[in-house]
Amino acid sequence: MIVSIVVALGPKREIGLNNQLLWHISDDLKNFKKLTTGKSVLMGRKTFESIGKPLPNRNNIVLTRDPELSVTGVDVITDPLMAFDLALDYDDSDECELAIIGGAEIYNIYLPYVQRIYLSEVEYNGPADAFFPELDPNEWKEVDSQKFEQFNFRVLERVS
Ligand SMILES: NC(=O)c1ccc[n+]([C@@H]2O[C@H](COP(=O)([O-])OP(=O)(O)OC[C@H]3O[C@@H](n4cnc5c(N)ncnc54)[C@H](OP(=O)(O)O)[C@@H]3O)[C@@H](O)[C@H]2O)c1
Repeated sequence: MIVSIVVALGPKREIGLNNQLLWHISDDLKNFKKLTTGKSVLMGRKTFESIGKPLPNRNNIVLTRDPELSVTGVDVITDPLMAFDLALDYDDSDECELAIIGGAEIYNIYLPYVQRIYLSEVEYNGPADAFFPELDPNEWKEVDSQKFEQFNFRVLERVS
C-alpha cells in the first residue's frame, strides 16, 4: 500500500482559515479529483464537516474522537491505525493507495507513515489558522513537478 498526502499550501505552509480552504482554484480541484478518484481518502472530522458530504467515487474515511459519530457513505474511525485496514479492504491490489487529505491535525498524525506527497504550492499572502507541518528536506526528494497558471504542482517521495 502507498500512503500519500495531497495538500495545497501557501508559502508559509498555510492551508486553511475558519475551517475553510484559502482559495478555490479550479485546476487544483481537478488535479485533486484525478489524484484521489478510486482511492481511499482519509480526513479529519473538521475537514469532513467543511466539505459537507462524502467525496464521490472514493472510499471516504473520517477520523474523530467521537465514538457516536455515524455518517452515511463514510467509514468513521476513532483509531488512526484503522485507516490502513480499511484501505486494504477497499483495494487489496498492489495499487492500493490511502490518500491523506487533511487537515492540519491529520497531516501531523500520518506524516510518519507517508511515502509520497502531492503538493500544490499556491501564491498566498493573507491570514490562516491551519498549517501544514514542516518537512525535513533531507527526508524528501522531488520526483515530478509541473507548472500551472495559479500554482506549482510537485510530487515528493520519501528517501529515508
Ligand atoms: N489546503 C489543503 O490542502 C487543505 C486540505 C484539507 C483541509 N484543509 C483545511 O484545514 C483546516 C482543518 O484542519 P484542522 O487541523 O483544524 O482539522 P482536521 O485535521 O480536519 O480535523 C481535526 C479533527 O480530527 C479528529 N482527530 C484529530 N486527532 C485525532 C486522533 N488522534 N484520534 C481521533 N480523532 C482525531 C478530531 O475530531 P473530533 O473533534 O470529532 O474528535 C479533530 O477535531 C480547514 O481550514 C480546512 O479547510 C486544507
